[in-house]
Amino acid sequence: MFYHHLGKIPPKRHIQFKQPDGSLYKEEVVSSEGFSGIYSILYHINPPTRIKSLGQPVPFGPKILENYGLRQTHLNTAKVGVTGEDFLSARKVLLMNNDCSMAICTPRQRKMDYFYKNAEGDEVLFIHDGSGKVISQFGVVEFRQGDYVVIPRTVIYKIEFNEGPLRVLVIESASPVETVKRYRNRLGQLLEHSPYCERDIRPPQELVTDTSRGEFLVKIKKQGHLHQYVYDYSPLDIVGWDGFLWPYAFSIHEFEPITGRIHQPPPVHQTFEGHNYVICSFVPRLFDYHPLAIPAPYNHSNIDSDEVLYYAEGNFMSRRGIERGSFTLHPGGLPHGPHPGTVEKSIGAKETRELAVMLDTFKPLFLTTDAKEFVDSNYPMSWTDAADGFNEINSP
Ligand SMILES: [Fe+2]
Repeated sequence: MFYHHLGKIPPKRHIQFKQPDGSLYKEEVVSSEGFSGIYSILYHINPPTRIKSLGQPVPFGPKILENYGLRQTHLNTAKVGVTGEDFLSARKVLLMNNDCSMAICTPRQRKMDYFYKNAEGDEVLFIHDGSGKVISQFGVVEFRQGDYVVIPRTVIYKIEFNEGPLRVLVIESASPVETVKRYRNRLGQLLEHSPYCERDIRPPQELVTDTSRGEFLVKIKKQGHLHQYVYDYSPLDIVGWDGFLWPYAFSIHEFEPITGRIHQPPPVHQTFEGHNYVICSFVPRLFDYHPLAIPAPYNHSNIDSDEVLYYAEGNFMSRRGIERGSFTLHPGGLPHGPHPGTVEKSIGAKETRELAVMLDTFKPLFLTTDAKEFVDSNYPMSWTDAADGFNEINSP
């Protein structure tokens, strides 16, 4: 990430910075990896340590589905409607391990009457359908269909969705979500061969400085619970901040695909990374242009990763049973590849209109109990018979 600031800040850090009444603003350094990672400095009207009351923790989180076995998996969530009441209770985690999880989320309530802080994970929201804004201590990040919204841990925020169709994919990461290391120079700037650059990243705009008093609930997620903290002032009591750590939006439509004469491997689609996983974006692009190119992917034996594709847009309906909103999990240890007939049918195809988000993990993923209802039991056998058409999803 890069340096950004909003609002008023003093000319030097850790010096006196006075409010109109002569009292000091309260400085808060929000740092990652101890003091070795990126950080920001926020200036509060009130001490961020002062709480009014502390409620009982409420259990919150998914449960692993036991004894699922090793199998190619298709979770079809296309028909799912509202998944819960609000932004937290609507999260249906479908796949998880200790490094990350993947949830669908379509809340009935478009606004939150509380604030939320994830104290143990960064969050990536992929806005499949919908638009709205994340209102945090760092300001407002507006988002629209196709955006990734990256929210670092401990950012206190609330989210407001606009009216209209709504479907959000929520990836939670135990480690910091970062841009791809091989695309950064030694000072962190994105290099010329990166599929996106700093101009594509949308930092918070329009700082909200809320001076109101009252009761403000912040639900803090940590260790399988939501902890209920009540403050007597708004957590958005920030007059200014600066630093490298802030929530942002990045549109999948700004990802510039890397193409070649022959089939390019999935790392060319990589968009983000964390410890033990990568997130990739499959976007509309021209197909391979060698005279003997095969646009469809080859069979692939992923010996040490589990591969999840979330199908957002495109012609993947020709893949048997796959719909908009489907997930496939191709676990390590089993070869996967195009359905019968699709390799031959792909020859001569010039471009793809597909849009998909991939999560590849380097440790096995588990289905959750919430995933069970979406399992397509026919999928493991779907390579046995001739397919109906060309599978446009081009991930090997
Ligand atoms: Fe693969």
